[in-house]
Amino acid sequence: MSQLDSIRAPVKKEMAEFERYFSQTMKSNIPLLRIILNYILRRKGKQMRPMLVLLSARVYGEIDEAAFVAATLIELLHTATLVHDDVVDSAEERRGALSINALWNSKIAVLTGDYMLSRGLLISVEKGRYDMLEIVSEAVRSMAEGELLQLQRSRKPNLTEEDYFRIIEMKTAALIAACTTSGAISVTNDSDTLFLMKELGESIGIAFQIRDDILDYEAKGLSGKAPGNDIKEKKLTLPLIHALRVTSNGNRRKILGIVRSKKKSRADIDQVTDFVHKNGGIDYALHMMHSYRDKALAIIERLPEGEARDSLKSFVHYTTARKK
Ligand code: IPE
Ligand code: IPE
Ligand code: MG
Ligand code: MG
Repeated sequence: MSQLDSIRAPVKKEMAEFERYFSQTMKSNIPLLRIILNYILRRKGKQMRPMLVLLSARVYGEIDEAAFVAATLIELLHTATLVHDDVVDSAEERRGALSINALWNSKIAVLTGDYMLSRGLLISVEKGRYDMLEIVSEAVRSMAEGELLQLQRSRKPNLTEEDYFRIIEMKTAALIAACTTSGAISVTNDSDTLFLMKELGESIGIAFQIRDDILDYEAKGLSGKAPGNDIKEKKLTLPLIHALRVTSNGNRRKILGIVRSKKKSRADIDQVTDFVHKNGGIDYALHMMHSYRDKALAIIERLPEGEARDSLKSFVHYTTARKK
């Protein structure tokens, strides 16, 4: 049994039910859209967000339709933002295959993402779950603002660690916090509980994105995304921010020159990657990631004991150790 399988165990049946909900919504009568939605359905991701929704519900009660609505809505919005994100990042690979923008084109990817976004929002309306609609719409707003902030700021040579954290809180942690909050709200209205679960999601989300940014410097074909794309796209993330901070002025100018150049060879990307490793960029990012992991684990200690809580713990460990 893989690590993810054992984390999923307490909600295994429910994950299958979620998948039925999800594929039901990925339908359209427009032939082109039908083909693209099927292409996306065949390459499902890790499904960490729906799993987190269901586990967050299970910690506090029994999973019912409300939790399926939340899980479906969130996975739809997540998938939509990935399709859009690959346009923004000019990424050609996603989930081990060609991205929608690479296989079709950017126009088609933008419209497909819009369609999935609207399907997601409509589900919560159809089911009358306006509380979930609010939680998730807030997260989508935050993601759009975070991606724009990143576009505007993250190519600047003076990007600070503080800017970086603000960006990842908005573009990634907000949606993961929506997972834990909407899962919990499907079974309880207790405001202290909802607040605690939101904090948990935020810490997991930050650790999750730091891991993703490290993987961009490490993964050799395992992640299902082309490594080095952040450097290629001039995106400064935590490993590079740290390495640039500790190096000499001369080195900083040289590396920034490479990162900011339009065309980069494989050797250029390797040089930046090497620079980041040698200047402790990965170690520093790991250290920061572990501090958010520990924050999340401390919150989990305060949740009701049981199988679901144990799985949440493993979920956090998986998030920060994953290779894809
Ligand atoms: C990718 O998320 C986007 C980030 C926030 C880094 P996942 O790594 O969860 O993507 P899938 O759904 O498994 O493909
Ligand atoms: C997260 O950032 C993307 C979203 C919040 C949609 P990345 O751009 O690093 O994600 P990947 O690496 O493309 O999955
Ligand atoms: Mg991207
Ligand atoms: Mg990335």
